[in-house]
Amino acid sequence: MLNNLEQQPADALLALIKLHNDDPRVDKIDLGVGVYRTGQGDTPVFGAIKAAEQRLVETQASKAYLGPEGDMGFVRALMPYIFGTDAPDMGGRIEGMQTPGGTGSLRLAFAMADRAGITRMWMGSPTWPNHPQICKDLGIGMETFSHATPEGTADMDGIRSAIASAQSGDAILLHGCCHNPTGIDYTNEQWDEIAGLLADSPGLPILDLAYQGLGHGMEQDAYGLRRVAAAAPEMLVAYSCDKNFGLYRDRTGALYAMTAEPGALAAVMSNGHALARANWSQPPDHGAAAARIVMEDEGLTVQWLDELDQMRTRMRQMRARLAAAGQVGGVDLTPLGGQNGLFSIIPFTPEQVQAMRDRHGIYFAGSGRINVAGLTSANIDNFIAAVAEVTG
Ligand code: LMR
Repeated sequence: MLNNLEQQPADALLALIKLHNDDPRVDKIDLGVGVYRTGQGDTPVFGAIKAAEQRLVETQASKAYLGPEGDMGFVRALMPYIFGTDAPDMGGRIEGMQTPGGTGSLRLAFAMADRAGITRMWMGSPTWPNHPQICKDLGIGMETFSHATPEGTADMDGIRSAIASAQSGDAILLHGCCHNPTGIDYTNEQWDEIAGLLADSPGLPILDLAYQGLGHGMEQDAYGLRRVAAAAPEMLVAYSCDKNFGLYRDRTGALYAMTAEPGALAAVMSNGHALARANWSQPPDHGAAAARIVMEDEGLTVQWLDELDQMRTRMRQMRARLAAAGQVGGVDLTPLGGQNGLFSIIPFTPEQVQAMRDRHGIYFAGSGRINVAGLTSANIDNFIAAVAEVTG
């Protein structure tokens, strides 16, 4: 039987890790998979998380199962950051559960939507490649809308027409902040309009919030999601702590459902629990427990938010350096200055992507997506010179 299985291509993004590792050049640059790096090129464990882990080792009395919903203290502690401090559960209309990372929460959100009768997902083009991959695996149909204009701004006509076309049985997937792969987010005014359109749409909004705090800060990065929550009757939110707590391999995330009436919530969440049980049974505990300890402790919370600010500031500095370079060879780096989060797209041709790898040891996705956090004051000039050489 097993020889019926055909060879699958390696995930292009994850394959970059190995390609970069295998390159012997000392001045190689990794702008591939989305992990934050310091000015020294490291991805350290947050100080606040280290302290929380220490506390966990000292105080954790048991590792007995918690249930398919995971650590509900963690799930609840995140809610004011996501939905605001005024009414984090929207009067009993929002409940959550822990998931294995952001991908786990997306998988659960899409599977829950599928069970609810969603047969078609609207997603921007481009989007994170795992979005269509999960949809395909679940057999959910897909429609795309243009996410960005050639000038590097959000394409409002694209999202307007997607929402106008959405019918009952459709879901509309939006990136809450730090759009992956373009870094191009909606402005507050654009979110206001989108939320208004979603209020009157039969489409189910699904918000993917994987980079909160890395765009303009925890509050501002939740603006759009909160506007949608205030306007739309129902919503699913897929949340990742991989980046903003630096917990990547500990797989720490959450799924939240918002229903039109509080009475509908228990049945919805029971489907989440049943789906979790059938997939991973219960989420891994360690990362969520550490994040909860941080959020429950005032001092560690201050430390965590400060570490997050430093990350954002460093990425802004790198973006400013790129933008200041302006026209470089055949590409204009100016728009990267106003984009958010880890990623931006530079319009390289496939041959130029390959030339950047072969001639300069600079690795990034075939789409031309670079991880800005891979740039440092030590390598950014080499990067800009390489872009000039390859595109000129
Ligand atoms: C990325 O897009 O690089 C990150 O979200 C990591 C991943 O799992 O793809």
